[in-house]
Amino acid sequence: MQAIINTTLTAPLRMPRQSSVLDRALEAFEIGEIAGPMSSLFTELQQIRQEEPLSWKEFARDCRNHPVCDLLHQDPFTFRAYDKPRGYAGDAVMMDYIYGLGEARAAESSATPLGREIFGFLGQCASSKGVRYRRRLLARLIDGASQRGPASVLAIAAGHLREAELSASLQTGNVREFIALDQDEASLALVANEYGHLGVKAVPGSVRQILAGKLQLGQFDFVYAAGLFDYLSAPVAAALTRRMFEMTRPGGQVLIPNFLTGVPDTGYMESFMDWYLIYRSKIDMMSLAAAVPQNELAECRIFDDQFGAITYLLLTKAL
Ligand SMILES: C[S@@+](CC[C@H](N)C(=O)[O-])C[C@H]1O[C@@H](n2cnc3c(N)ncnc32)[C@H](O)[C@@H]1O
Repeated sequence: MQAIINTTLTAPLRMPRQSSVLDRALEAFEIGEIAGPMSSLFTELQQIRQEEPLSWKEFARDCRNHPVCDLLHQDPFTFRAYDKPRGYAGDAVMMDYIYGLGEARAAESSATPLGREIFGFLGQCASSKGVRYRRRLLARLIDGASQRGPASVLAIAAGHLREAELSASLQTGNVREFIALDQDEASLALVANEYGHLGVKAVPGSVRQILAGKLQLGQFDFVYAAGLFDYLSAPVAAALTRRMFEMTRPGGQVLIPNFLTGVPDTGYMESFMDWYLIYRSKIDMMSLAAAVPQNELAECRIFDDQFGAITYLLLTKAL
């Protein structure tokens, strides 16, 4: 009863602020201003999300009925995330838009001038910078695993495995075994085609199959899952952390990245992209670490990137 009364009282007061944010962006786009208004839109959406959590989801949905949405959807990145041609936002083709690989150039050049400018803006936002840093970090850790001798690596939810291009040890044949696992057949076909010659094996499989013990892949020196935990509930995330640790050899490492609670792009992603992730704090990452047998843990590190976008859990298994 209390909630109903609150909603009725606050709704008329709330709407002018929210619609004026969208109206201002629309007016600015119509006279050719892009970067400044996009930046304000990101900030203001994030503020509304934080200050009005109860009405946020409804407002986020309403954003997509405002005329400014048609303009924002001229950007191939925003539109693909919203459209979800593979059933979910953040598919490997979309990740390529962030990396500037694969279909990124074609998508950008076939967009309208406005769409291209918005595309350029999104490529520089915190989460895009964080995703590109994550790719570089993965390559460094693959190379680090290979320093002790040819390593075996398991990438869960590998997507297009773009870190393969940055890993010196993969390029020089210093990785003994590399399994790229994903549930998306189209992504696996690209991995086999582009990185098969480096010895990468593209294997179909899902988190569900891993947790059910239906995929017996063996043990690896480095096991990671980038862009996956952001979609997993706490119990599934904990179970997968435990399983990944089991699949790691003594002395090996597990890396789990997750979008960080409070990333400034969240408001835009949830409204105009209809893209809801499960954000995690350092404390949430500590809960994941608690899921592995502590007596088998040599080191546990939790750190964030410099963009405030992605947090990392890096576990080293005792020898
Ligand atoms: C955001 S992309 C990340 C791709 C890549 N790791 C990267 O960092 O660019 C997420 C990937 O997870 C895969 N995926 C999502 N849910 C999955 C599941 N339950 N089991 C296996 N793969 C999954 C998708 O097919 C997609 O390729």
